[in-house]
Amino acid sequence: PPLSLEPLLTYDDKVAGLNLIADSIAQMKQRAAHSMVFHPLCITLLFLTWAAIYRWAYEPATADPSMALLLSCGVTMTYLTAIRYFTDGYVSLAENLRWSWLEGPGSVEGDFIIGARYGGALIGVLVLRLEPRFSFRGGKGVIRAWTTRLRYRGKGIGRDLLDGAIRIVKDRCGKDAEVGFAQEHANSTMILPAMFNGVFRRDEVRAAKVLEKALEEWEASKRKKR
Ligand SMILES: CC(C)(COP(=O)(O)OP(=O)(O)OC[C@H]1O[C@@H](n2cnc3c(N)ncnc32)[C@H](O)[C@@H]1OP(=O)(O)O)[C@@H](O)C(=O)NCCC(=O)NCCS
Repeated sequence: PPLSLEPLLTYDDKVAGLNLIADSIAQMKQRAAHSMVFHPLCITLLFLTWAAIYRWAYEPATADPSMALLLSCGVTMTYLTAIRYFTDGYVSLAENLRWSWLEGPGSVEGDFIIGARYGGALIGVLVLRLEPRFSFRGGKGVIRAWTTRLRYRGKGIGRDLLDGAIRIVKDRCGKDAEVGFAQEHANSTMILPAMFNGVFRRDEVRAAKVLEKALEEWEASKRKKR
C-alpha cells in the first residue's frame, strides 16, 4: 500500500497521533538506561565494587567462591534496579502527555498535526505550530514533535514529514519563513543528569541538520521552478 501524508483532523486521529508521540517518549527510557548502564563512571564503580567483594568475601583457604559470587550478583541486581528506577520517569512523562499539550497556550489555530499513513495505519506524526508575527505572513513554524513508529524508522518517513511541515509553513507564512524545532519539543525533557544525556543531545543536533538540509533542498527546488 502507498504511504500518504495527511493532516489529522478528527479527535480519534489526533489521539492516535498523541499516543505515537507518547510511545516515543516512553522509548527514551531504554536509551537512557543503556547510556547509564554503560557510562564509564557507573561501570568503573561496578567493577570496583566487584573487586572489593572478591577481596573481602572470597575465601582463598577453602577456594570457595560462593559468597563472593552471591554478593556480586546482589550488587549487579541492585545496580540494574537502581538504573531502572532512575529512568522510570520517562514512562510517567509519556503517561502525562495529554490533550492539553496539543492545545496549550501559544497555539493560535490549534497545532497542525501531520500524519503519515501506511495501509491505513498511522506510522508517523509531526506537530507543527505556526507562530504569527502580527499575522501568519512573516511568522515562523515551530516543530513541537516529530516521531516515526519504531519499526518504520530509517525508511524516509521522518524526512517526508519534515518536507510536509516546510510546505505548510512556506505556504502560510511566506517563502522566507523560518522553520525550527521548539526548544521544548515533546522529546526534550531529560530526567537524568547531563552526563547521561549525550545520546539525546546528539539526536537534537542531528535533527537540526536534517531540517537544515530539507530547507536547503526546498529552496533549491523553488529556484529550479522559477
Ligand atoms: C527522529 C525520527 C522521527 C526520524 O524518523 P525516521 O523515519 O527514522 O527518519 P528518516 O528515515 O526519514 O531519516 C531522516 C533523517 O533523520 C535522521 N535521524 C534518524 N534518527 C534520528 C533521531 N533519533 N534524531 C534525529 N535525527 C534522526 C537520519 O539520520 C536521517 O538523516 P539523513 O537523511 O541525513 O541520513 C525517529 O527516529 C523518531 O521517531 N525518533 C524518536 C523521537 C525523536 O527523538 N524525535 C526527534 C525529536 S528532535
